[in-house]
Amino acid sequence: MLMKYILLFCLWSCVECANVLFMMTYIGKSQYIMLKPIALELARRGHNVTVISVFKENNPPENYHQVLVDDNIWDSMGGRRPSHFTSVDLSAEERHKRFLWRGGLILNEVVLNSTKVQEFLAADNKFDVVISEQFFQEAMYILAHKYQAPLILITSYGNCMRHNIATRNPLQLATVISEFLVVENPRSLLGRLRNMYFAMYEYFWWRFWYLKELDNLVKDYVPDLKKPVPSLYEIQQNVSLFLINSHFSFDPPTAYLPNIIEIGGVHLTPNASKLPEDLQNILDKAENGVIYMTFGSNIQSSKLPTDQRNAFLNVFRRLKVTVLLKWEEDELKNKPDNVVIRKWLPQKEVLAHPNVKLFISHGGLIGTHEALYHGVPIIGIPVYGDQYNNLLQVQESGFGKILQYHDITEETLDKMVNEILTNELFRMKAKEISRIFKDRPMTPLDTAIYWIEYVIRNKGAVYMKNPALDMSWIEYFMIDICGLVLLIVVMLYYLLRFGALITLRLFKGLFKNHGKNKKGISNGKVKYS
Ligand SMILES: *[C@@H]1O[C@H](CO)[C@@H](O)[C@H](O)[C@H]1NC(C)=O
Ligand SMILES: *[C@@H]1O[C@H](CO)[C@@H](O)[C@H](O)[C@H]1NC(C)=O
Ligand SMILES: *[C@@H]1O[C@H](CO)[C@@H](O)[C@H](O)[C@H]1NC(C)=O
Ligand SMILES: *[C@@H]1O[C@H](CO)[C@@H](O)[C@H](O)[C@H]1NC(C)=O
Repeated sequence: MLMKYILLFCLWSCVECANVLFMMTYIGKSQYIMLKPIALELARRGHNVTVISVFKENNPPENYHQVLVDDNIWDSMGGRRPSHFTSVDLSAEERHKRFLWRGGLILNEVVLNSTKVQEFLAADNKFDVVISEQFFQEAMYILAHKYQAPLILITSYGNCMRHNIATRNPLQLATVISEFLVVENPRSLLGRLRNMYFAMYEYFWWRFWYLKELDNLVKDYVPDLKKPVPSLYEIQQNVSLFLINSHFSFDPPTAYLPNIIEIGGVHLTPNASKLPEDLQNILDKAENGVIYMTFGSNIQSSKLPTDQRNAFLNVFRRLKVTVLLKWEEDELKNKPDNVVIRKWLPQKEVLAHPNVKLFISHGGLIGTHEALYHGVPIIGIPVYGDQYNNLLQVQESGFGKILQYHDITEETLDKMVNEILTNELFRMKAKEISRIFKDRPMTPLDTAIYWIEYVIRNKGAVYMKNPALDMSWIEYFMIDICGLVLLIVVMLYYLLRFGALITLRLFKGLFKNHGKNKKGISNGKVKYS
């Protein structure tokens, strides 16, 4: 017992063991799957980790404290999960208007209003660092101010325009497309115009409406904040570290400030956990290979309309391979014998099995990284959000193809599935990209932990922030300089013109005095006034 206390004392007295507040308050399960390993690893290294999350971790370590959000989020959002297939055609702006802005406000309110969260906020806690996911959870950033601790943000997707603006990282709109847009050719004139327009739309709504609403929400739910209370936008500008779920081996290479670090594939480890025995058997026995199909945790395959569902089943029926299908209902009518359904599947572990030859997916980033990591070709059917762009990247890298939802027919599916199963090129490309994706000085998890601890060690590492944060837009974009140069050029022009005029007058006077026989020159080319 005494030993335990001594050990504990050593643990807590060491400089690097910090009190960490880690917030994963988004309702998407895949976000949680990606973020959880970071929180658990921090705890494993001895930090005292407090997690505010929607999902519960079973059997966590002793120094991993959970504050659970009330589980009424979907009710507050107006009922159960929607069928996303009916809304594939919505534009990015329309989707924001209908779901994301309002949904984001509701989500933030439900989290802050949760019984356990309110109890937690009322208690007297101290934190050395506050970590939050960056996706419609901005109200939570106020806790960085509450605890006077540096803020670290993590995206569950890649680069983020909104935070590039906040931290003054270059936007690079010509090559970095918004995660929400569906543009077939992003670098074309129209593609870039679309991207620019959407960036402006998003920025203005986000900054001048959405964040303002959240500022008011925070005032209602988080008491006793130290005055003056900064706006949520100001808190984000002051972010110490920004971990983003991308990697240049797969995503477009981009210029980043030193406090923006890529950790794409952070939840993936070489030794995935074991498959359940029944699945292990099925996968081992599937000598002709396996197709794994799922639309992820948010979109349910069982909501596929009948025509599309039948197209899939008819194609699967003709194949020799085994099909593992995530199907959220008890039964699947007309299920072919080679199709195995489960309501939930351990995806990483399934994709790690060598018999898996094809992943049919909606193109969510987490699943795409998992397939990429294990070198599995993809047929992607994008439904919303960043899915199209992830899949465009897959298609450009050559290890998969996009099948648009409206193009799903028995013929198109049959052709594409057979092409990817028989053409070795897709598999070879997938293996190659997988190798490059993993070729890094440190694993992404170690990278994430290193930089988090770096920020803790260096009390927010303020020196990593862009000095441009203290400048106005006019100074940052050198508009004042451009103006000054323009002014000088204009002044020089008039000065020269004036000088030339005077000189000319002088010469004219001289010519006049010297007689009228030199008319030719003064009447000809040289005409200044
Ligand atoms: C760890 O964090 C919890 C808050 O979740 C706090 O109650 C506890 O006192 C902390 N432990 C130490 C040793 O700081
Ligand atoms: C906040 O929580 C209380 C009780 O936990 C509930 O009665 C109330 O409706 C909630 N408010 C909102 C806006 O969700
Ligand atoms: C910005 O963050 C640093 C440390 O992370 C902190 O010391 C400073 O007070 C913050 N500034 C503002 C304006 O919040
Ligand atoms: C992977 O497995 C090896 C050997 O079994 C072990 O030493 C290592 O710690 C494991 N790594 C992770 C990240 O679990």
